[in-house]
Amino acid sequence: MSEKKYDIGLMGLAVMGQNLVLNMVDHGFDVAVFNRTTSKVDDFLATEEARSKGDKLTGAHSLAELVSKLKSPRKIMLMIKSKDAVPAPELALYPDAAAVDAVIAELIPLLDKGDVIIDGGNTQFKDTERRTKYLANLGIRYIGTGVSGGEEGARRGPSMMPGGDPEAWPLVKPIFQAISAKVGPNKDVPCCDWIGARGAGHYVKMVHNGVEYGDMQLISDAYWILKNALGLSNADLYKIFAEWNETELDSYLIEITRDIFTVEDPESDGELVDKILDAAGAKGTGKWMSQLALDLGVPSTLVTEAVYARAISSMKSQRVNASAVLSGPVGAKYQGDKAEFIAQVKQALYASKICSYAQGFVQMQAAAKEYDWSLDCGKIALLWRGGCIIRAVFLERIKEAFDKNPNLENLLLDPYFKNAVESAQPAWRNVVKTAVELGIPTPGFTTALTYFDSYRSANLPANLIQAQRDYFGAHTYFRVDKPGEGPFHTDWINVKKS
Ligand code: 6PG
Repeated sequence: MSEKKYDIGLMGLAVMGQNLVLNMVDHGFDVAVFNRTTSKVDDFLATEEARSKGDKLTGAHSLAELVSKLKSPRKIMLMIKSKDAVPAPELALYPDAAAVDAVIAELIPLLDKGDVIIDGGNTQFKDTERRTKYLANLGIRYIGTGVSGGEEGARRGPSMMPGGDPEAWPLVKPIFQAISAKVGPNKDVPCCDWIGARGAGHYVKMVHNGVEYGDMQLISDAYWILKNALGLSNADLYKIFAEWNETELDSYLIEITRDIFTVEDPESDGELVDKILDAAGAKGTGKWMSQLALDLGVPSTLVTEAVYARAISSMKSQRVNASAVLSGPVGAKYQGDKAEFIAQVKQALYASKICSYAQGFVQMQAAAKEYDWSLDCGKIALLWRGGCIIRAVFLERIKEAFDKNPNLENLLLDPYFKNAVESAQPAWRNVVKTAVELGIPTPGFTTALTYFDSYRSANLPANLIQAQRDYFGAHTYFRVDKPGEGPFHTDWINVKKS
């Protein structure tokens, strides 16, 4: 009797990996699993949930055994954490990449032409570009896929953003689309579709994470100004976020923020949120997005400001020292109508969020040109509609905007978003003005408004920058009155002055 063969193999049994496996089995696929620390394989298979899956699940104690258990063409998904690394740093552009490269190097001699390797980690897209090309030369198909939604998403339906070798897509599509979150009136539209060649999927996942940084910072700006300018309690904040979640702000991050305000400290009196050290961590995807925006020359200021806000938050002891030295407004309260101000903060949050998403899509479009992918922005908005951390009702509007105009230059130019931002504008300005007057930092709201004002300005003071550059470095300039001519240079010292 021939031995049973499995639909897919998964290596890396941390919680995300385990949950993806259970999700695959629930959707009818037979899965073989492997982990470098092999006791994890046995422990996982011994859990009640895994045992309940019967022979739909099997374990392997080596990569070779895993490969031997798979149907051809074999599909092997890697959910590898850097701490499991077998060092091969000479191959890696980014430190975490060493682990994935080492496993790929081990897999190559075990695989046949046409087999598929899938990387489901938060990988830097340049590593995915490199691996897709390298493995294609060996006849092995490679997919780098974003998987968003955390542990719960992996179990119940993540948002998935696959890119890589297009020939591999039909092979994994039935599995990926089955396990992903579903949206739409009949809950049957999968939040997973092909993103594009080579590193496109991981790029889009990185932008998802950068937008997540922006959303989190904007929500924190709202929290901070409401708490400090109005002196609101956690119970008040709970009510506000609960109300906001019934509006156009309806989203996973608003929902969990609402609930965070209700969680009591298990160790002492009061709510847990007030006991958490105000120093934000970061694993790096937000920083990558910001770095890559600089490479492309596109202004993704929200994610950059959010990364910097986390950086300054983590300088806790310096801030404590500085707070005793540097004076400015402290503790003053907003003197106007409270309910009106709360409504204005909501508008500031919504308008800023629109700017943040506008920047994310601009960056993806610029990246698509630079790296030669063809990205469908409407499709991406749909994939983010469910399952992922930034899932939100408002992504439906973004999808509609790109469906109407696939070449939309900037979301702010879409009629729906133009109206939304314009009607929010007076409130948004009052919130930023109030924050400045009261000395309450709201970096997200402020940078978003600066972006909006810059973007809608036909003229900016860059004429002066060009004059300075030409003055000290003969860097030349173009003239507004001579389009198509130039560049020009002036001898700024020996020229007639008024
Ligand atoms: C997701 C999350 C996930 C992770 C973030 C956290 O889509 O499920 O984005 O990928 O939680 O990367 O990132 P930071 O640690 O950098 O905040």
